[in-house]
Amino acid sequence: MFKVVWEKWKIGKREILRLILVTILLSTCFPLIWYTTQESFSLLKKTTWLIDDATGGLKNLTIQFKTLTTHSRVDKSLAKVKPTEKPYKCDGCFSKQFTFLINNEGICKTSNVSIKILIMITSSPQNKLSRNAIRDTWLTYAKKNNGNIRYVFLLGESPMTKELEKENLQTKDIILGNFKDAYNNLTYKTLMGYQWATQHCKHAQFVMKTDDDMFVHIPGLTRVIKENSKVLQTAVGGNCKQSARPIRNTRSKWYASLKSYPQRTYPGFCSGTGYVTSLDVVTKIMKISKDVPFFHLEDVYVSLCIKQLGLKLHYIDGFMRTFGLCRNEYNTLVTVHKVAVNRMRRMWETLCAPKEKK
Ligand SMILES: *[C@@H]1O[C@H](CO)[C@@H](O)[C@H](O)[C@H]1NC(C)=O
Ligand SMILES: *[C@@H]1O[C@H](CO)[C@@H](O)[C@H](O)[C@H]1NC(C)=O
Ligand SMILES: *[C@@H]1O[C@H](CO)[C@@H](O)[C@H](O)[C@H]1NC(C)=O
Repeated sequence: MFKVVWEKWKIGKREILRLILVTILLSTCFPLIWYTTQESFSLLKKTTWLIDDATGGLKNLTIQFKTLTTHSRVDKSLAKVKPTEKPYKCDGCFSKQFTFLINNEGICKTSNVSIKILIMITSSPQNKLSRNAIRDTWLTYAKKNNGNIRYVFLLGESPMTKELEKENLQTKDIILGNFKDAYNNLTYKTLMGYQWATQHCKHAQFVMKTDDDMFVHIPGLTRVIKENSKVLQTAVGGNCKQSARPIRNTRSKWYASLKSYPQRTYPGFCSGTGYVTSLDVVTKIMKISKDVPFFHLEDVYVSLCIKQLGLKLHYIDGFMRTFGLCRNEYNTLVTVHKVAVNRMRRMWETLCAPKEKK
C-alpha cells in the first residue's frame, strides 16, 4: 500500500528534504515577521503624536509668519506722529509701586539651602490647567518650593481673583498684583515680579522669567546658568536678538503703534518666552524702570532698560526651541516654546522625566 502511494506520487529523497526545509523556514520566519510588524506598529503609534505636534506647530508657525508678513492693515496713525515724540528716557515718568493682592512672602525664606534660581512664570487667570501641568511636570524639580530652585506664578486682577485665592490655598505659589490682567499689561506683570524678587527673594542668585505655555528643561537651565554665571552679572541671557524692528501690522500680536514706539528699531530683546539674569541686574532694572517710559511688549521694555543701564543682551543656545524633545536634545535643550497642556505631560512622561527618577 505504502509502496503504491510512493510510486504514484513519485516522491524522492530530494523532495522530502525540500519539504522539511520549507517547513523549518516557515515556522521560524512567520513568528519573526509577525513580531516585527507588531513592534513597528507600536513604534508608529508612539511617533504619530510627535508628527502631530510637529505639523500643528508648523501650521502655527505659518500662521504667525503670515500675520507678520501681511501688511494689509498698516497703522493709520503712521503719518500723524513725529518720529521723535517719545523719548527713550524720562524723569520718573513710570514710577510704579505694586501692591500684592495675593502674596506668598515666605517662598524664599529658607535657612538650610541657598536659592540658586527664582523662576517667575507669567500666567493668565483662566490658565489653571497650564499651571497645574507645569506644577506636575518640570516644576517638580523645585521640590514644592523647598529646594534651591523656587518659583512663583505672576498674575493681575480679573473677575477670577476669588478662584485664584482658592487655588493659592492649595499651591501657595501665586503672586497677584494690583493691575488689570491683560496681554498689553505684561510689562506690569514682569515689573511686579521684579519688585517681588527684590523685596521677598533678595538672596536668590539668578532670576528666570518665562510663560505658562513653556517647557523649561531644568537640567539645561542649571547648566547654562553655571556656564554663563559671570556674564549674567551684567547681562540678560536667552534667545536674544541684538537689533529688531517694531511690527507695524495691527493684526500682529506684537504690534507697536508709532505713538507707542516711534523709532525705527528696537535695541534688540531677549524673547520673553524665557530669559535669565542675576538678581543684581533685576534690581538695577527695577530702579531704572522709573525713568524708562512704559512700553507694552515686556521683553522689549526690559531691553530698553538694559540699554539705559549700559548692560548687555547675551545670546544663549537652547532657548525657545519649537519642537524640542528632551530625549534627542537632553544636553542642549533649555526651553520649548508653545507647549499645550497635554503635550506638556506627554513630553515629561515619555521624554523628559529626570533620568534619576527611572
Ligand atoms: C497651535 O495653536 C493652537 C491655537 O493657538 C493651539 O491650541 C495648539 O496647541 C497649537 N499647536 C502647537 C503644536 O503648538
Ligand atoms: C529645608 O527645610 C525645609 C523646611 O524645613 C524642608 O522641607 C526641606 O526638605 C529642607 N531642604 C533640605 C535640602 O534640607
Ligand atoms: C493695565 O492695568 C491698568 C491698571 O489696572 C489699567 O488701567 C489698564 O486699563 C490696563 N491695560 C489694559 C490694556 O487692560
